[in-house]
Amino acid sequence: MTGQFAVIGNPIEQSRSPELHYAFAEKLGIELSYQKRLAPLDGFEKSVTEFFAQGGSGMNVTVPFKEQAYAMCDVLTERAQIAKAVNTLWKKDGQLFGDNTDGQGLVDAILALNWSLKNTRILILGAGGATRGVIYPLVKAGAKQITIANRTLTRAEQLISDLESSVPEAQLNMMQLSKLSGEYDLVINATSASLSGEALVLPSKLKFDHAYEMAYGKPSTFIDQAKARGVPTAEGFGMLVGQAVEAFAIWHGVKPAIKEFL
Ligand code: ATR
Repeated sequence: MTGQFAVIGNPIEQSRSPELHYAFAEKLGIELSYQKRLAPLDGFEKSVTEFFAQGGSGMNVTVPFKEQAYAMCDVLTERAQIAKAVNTLWKKDGQLFGDNTDGQGLVDAILALNWSLKNTRILILGAGGATRGVIYPLVKAGAKQITIANRTLTRAEQLISDLESSVPEAQLNMMQLSKLSGEYDLVINATSASLSGEALVLPSKLKFDHAYEMAYGKPSTFIDQAKARGVPTAEGFGMLVGQAVEAFAIWHGVKPAIKEFL
């Protein structure tokens, strides 16, 4: 029987997950069906339950349902527990399993660029769900010091107190977004500023060697400023491919080579 998969969100039309999963499947000789599924804002759980009751094998979850997916799982991976958000669901022995592959997707995308993460100092702009999901995988991949800069400092403080016991091998610091300074191997923009078209200012006293924008397909003042400094930059399409590769590996037991799909 051909496995049935779907990505669920609201809106969902923009999702590129089906094309990625079909490309992986074709490359690896696996047959599957992968649909977009629009859930009403108040009907996420019902839609997930129906999908699996009708024989669905696995689902990806996107905005705005990742926290609801986390809340409805029977079993969570460690990284999903830490992220408090789930983007990959599957059923086993009657139980709903949840994982979060976004953070490892970012790590895989960064490594595919041949940027090293070993012993690095990383600055992450933003302290929302996107930042929460990537800290643990970045530390496991070798980050030694992560500074979280946020407009609302108390949110960075809360994130650090939630996460520091999960990553004892790294040092977590915080900073006010309007007072950026210091030297970093990598700066990651995990704010939603570029999505709303607002400008982030990177002052000259902030030094960095690489810049990664988690969003993609939108003009980014963050990337423009990094490029103006001659620093290597990348945008979030690689992270999207990376999280899809990881989800595919969970469901099918084989991991597509990310570099072939970037
Ligand atoms: P996500 O799940 O994508 O992380 P989120 O939880 O809403 O979304 O978090 C959005 C992040 O972008 C927050 O860190 C937010 O800063 P605040 O905590 O101060 O609100 C940040 N952000 C959004 N718009 C911004 C802007 N125009 N300038 C700076 N930071 C911004």
